[in-house]
Amino acid sequence: MNDNVRVIAIDGPSGAGKSSVSRIVGERLGYLHVDSGALYRIMSWQCLENKVDTSSPSDVAACAEKVEVEFRVENGAIAYYVNGEAPGNKIRTPEINAVASPVATVKEVRDKITSILRSLTRFGNLVIEGRDITSAVFPDSPARFYLTASAEARAMRRRKEEVEKGIANQSVEAVKASLLARDKIDSSRKHAPLVKADGVIEIDSTELTLEEVVESVINSLPDGWK
Ligand code: DC
Repeated sequence: MNDNVRVIAIDGPSGAGKSSVSRIVGERLGYLHVDSGALYRIMSWQCLENKVDTSSPSDVAACAEKVEVEFRVENGAIAYYVNGEAPGNKIRTPEINAVASPVATVKEVRDKITSILRSLTRFGNLVIEGRDITSAVFPDSPARFYLTASAEARAMRRRKEEVEKGIANQSVEAVKASLLARDKIDSSRKHAPLVKADGVIEIDSTELTLEEVVESVINSLPDGWK
């Protein structure tokens, strides 16, 4: 990694507010926002498009190996393209939600995405959100955060987002069940599970506004990073 590049790493379970917080922190500081989960979703999408059996790690690994992702800097973030197409909401459906966690257990997929994420420092300072950014991808960053919230708060936020974007209209209970199922797989997998890594700053956003979380992150950054 380029030692002059700064990486703010934010991990946490689904729906904890990582995307909104990372995007705003990035905008305020001029750091590019990187959504690492979108890369796992892209691999899942490509598996489904190619009718790959997502319960077979070797088939998933073979599919992911062939996926070529192109990177562009757009609106303060790293945007992804596959065969010239921006995946948009195609990677946010309940079907992708259901396969993304199993796909993310596959070591070859994780290795490929970890190497992509590390290479993105070529674009400049980054704020990266995910599940293993603080523990495995950039464990040496001096700015590492673990963002969490109650399961109820997370399900309500995620449902609101899905309805507003016209992606799905499931009950809060269904969204919560899907979130918890993913949390369980993400936290118990063998390779780079979601953990609260040593030395991270934990922020519980259940009772906080988005602005309060953003301020808390920015105020906790090392001197000279703001
Ligand atoms: O953040 P998200 O819901 O878009 O992530 C989609 C899936 O990818 C999620 O089930 C966990 C996985 N993931 C991961 O294993 N490691 C990351 N750094 C980011 C996401």
